[in-house]
This record gives sequence, structure tokens and C-alpha cells, in this order.
Amino acid sequence: MSGSGEFKAGLEDVVVSTSEICFIDGREGRLLYRGYDVNDLVEHSSFEEVVYLLWHGGLPSRKELEAHVKALSATATRRLAPKLVDMLRQLPRKTPPMEVLRTGVSALSAFDPDAADNSREASLRKALRLTAQMPTLVAAWERIRRGRPLVDPNPRLGLAANFLTMLTGKAPSPLATKTFDVALILHADHEFNASTFAARVTAATLSDMHSSITSAIGALKGPLHGGANEQVMLMVEKIKSPARAEAWIKKALADKARIMGFGHRVYRVEDPRAKHLRRLATELGQQAGNTDSVQILDTVARVVSQDKHIFPNVDLFSGAAYATMGIATDQFTPVFAISRVAGWAAHVLEQHGNNRLIRPRSEYTGPTHATYVPLDRR
Ligand code: COA
Repeated sequence: MSGSGEFKAGLEDVVVSTSEICFIDGREGRLLYRGYDVNDLVEHSSFEEVVYLLWHGGLPSRKELEAHVKALSATATRRLAPKLVDMLRQLPRKTPPMEVLRTGVSALSAFDPDAADNSREASLRKALRLTAQMPTLVAAWERIRRGRPLVDPNPRLGLAANFLTMLTGKAPSPLATKTFDVALILHADHEFNASTFAARVTAATLSDMHSSITSAIGALKGPLHGGANEQVMLMVEKIKSPARAEAWIKKALADKARIMGFGHRVYRVEDPRAKHLRRLATELGQQAGNTDSVQILDTVARVVSQDKHIFPNVDLFSGAAYATMGIATDQFTPVFAISRVAGWAAHVLEQHGNNRLIRPRSEYTGPTHATYVPLDRR
């Protein structure tokens, strides 16, 4: 609640800048990247093409796309410096993957040949490396913490198939690859959400790409933002079976619990990303012969939508799909980050292109005439 009415708690509905990257219509449930409806991108595009679109402002020609995919997939771009892998091996194995990602991305700048160069060209090269290296980093930690050998990146595979292969050590099914690619497209950008704003605040001090992305990862980690899909799966685990779902969720609502995977600061209707993830999670569950998670979530969605008039967001069904692909629950938020880095980087480039330091004010509500009492008289 605002005290004087002169500010908006949580900056709700406050417009802080113009941007040409992403448009959300919260009443109609529409999401556009650079003017293109995300539904069309899901149907026709790939994550790699969406990365190009976000960074360059338009769709690539075939030649441009081929060059972009080649650069993004090259082993030299994807591979981590051996010293960075050694650093990961020094971390306690119980370190949460999101903390490893935050630490690893920060450390990647020490190995980046463009670290000291903040020109647009160098920032684009750093964005390309980060987008290629973050999947390797996430997969490497999964292998290290489980005491398994690392899997080298394969330049012939797209980002989705390569990541799943490096993570699990097995080639993913075509449906898993398609589902993961769609999830990457759907998470690639979302206007001035908390992590993107954190990236822009850092970029606006004329700090660099790695620092901005590290700030964003810190913001994404929280359960009100990227951590929500992990919480959804913990809820599914607690509910245990579809037969228990209705009673469980009714009790949770009666207890005034916050239900993860529902509600949104901007959408007043269902998040347009949720339906794609529901469909793909259902197909994956059917293929794997277990649709319990999706059935539980369907019941939860029906009850919460009816009783509270708040609707599923992107996080409700993504976890069920990831779990079927063999992704550990605590890796869901790092997986979100390996997609959102595309959007974060686009926003850093945009911020640097037309910069003004972001420095808001607070309304001070503390004392104004406190008298200092020396330590020995307190
Ligand atoms: N479960 C239960 N109630 C919820 C809710 C949820 N997930 N989301 C919102 N509400 C209710 C609040 O209790 C509040 O009710 P009240 O007015 O009776 O107190 C009302 O809706 C407004 O909620 P508020 O938290 O002020 O809105 P917000 O704009 O700050 O919240 C979120 C946006 C995303 C933080 C919020 O919806 C939430 O916590 N969702 C769960 C986490 C999540 O899924 N995050 C991922 C977002 S993509």
C-alpha cells in the first residue's frame, strides 16, 4: 500500500521506460516479441531464431539464421574454460543449482575475451557466449553433483537437444526436444519483469553484460518470480494423486495459502504461455505413460480459477513437462534462466543504446531528529 499516494508499491503499473522488445496485453492475454505473436513463434519458429529476433529487432534471412545458429552452436562458443569447470568442482555438492548458475555466470566474465569492451558489437558477442555457455554450465553442475562424467557439447544439435543431452547423457525424444524448444521460446522475454528490470538497472550504471545478467539471475531466483515452477512441483508431490487434488487445493485456499503457478502482476486473464505448456506436458505424460501430474494440475487450475478468479501463469505446467524429461526440480529455475538470458541481453543492449541512470527516490518514513548517544551511555 502506498502511504502518500505519490508512489506505487512494487512499482505496479508504473511505466519506467519505452521499449521496442516485448508487449504484453494483460486484458487480452497477448504476448508479442518485436511485434510477433508468441503463438505464431511457437508454431513456426525456433529458440535460436527468437534469440536473433530479440537482439536484432527483426526476423533473419535464411543466410543470417544459418550464421547465427552456427555461431551459437559452435563448440568453442558453448564450451566452458577448464578452470571454470575446476571451480565448479570445488563447490559443495549440495549447493543449489541456481546459486551455482549465479556464481558461474559471474565467473564466466573472467574468461571472456570481450570482458572489458562495452561496445554494442562486444556486448552482442558476450550475449552470444552467455546464451551458449549457460546451458553447458547448468548441465555440468548436474553431472558434477551426481558424480557423473561431463558430456561435451555437440555442435550438430540445436540448443534444446544439446542441453538435454548434456544434462541427462541420453539423446532426447523428438517430442522432448520440441517441448523444450517451445518452453525456451515462451520464456525468452516478458517485458519489465523483476529480473529484466534488475538487469536494466545494472546496465544503466554502464556496467557490463555479465554483471547485468548476474543481477538478473539473483532476481529470478525468488519464489515470486522464476522460483514458482519449482514450488508448483513441490505442491504436486504433496498432493500425491489426482484423487486427492480437489480436497487438497480447497483446503489450501481456505487456509489462504498463496498457490504457486497462479496470478500475475500484468495478466488479468490466463497467461497465453500456459496453454502451450499444458498441451506439451500432457503429450509428454501420455508418451511416458503417466499423466498424474497434469491431472493434478488440471484439477488445481479448475478449482483456483473458479474460487479465486486467478488464472494459471507460465509456471503452472512447465515443471510437469520438465520432470517428465528427467530434469530435477531444483533445476527448473536455471532452465528458465537459460531461456530468459536472450531477453535480458536484448534489454541490456537496448538500455545501453539509449541510457539514463535508473535512480528512483523513496519516501522517507524514518525519524528525522535522532540524537546520537555514545556507546557507553546506551
Ligand atoms: N494464490 C492465491 N492468491 C493469490 C495469488 C496466488 N497465486 N496471486 C494473487 N492472489 C491474490 C492475493 O492474495 C490478493 O488477494 P487480496 O486482494 O484478497 O489480498 C490478490 O490476489 C492480489 O495479489 P497480489 O499479491 O497483491 O498481486 P501481485 O500483482 O503482487 O502478485 C504475483 C503477482 C505473481 C506475485 C502473485 O500472483 C503470486 O504470488 N503468484 C504466485 C507465484 C507465481 O506463480 N509467480 C510466477 C509469476 S509468472
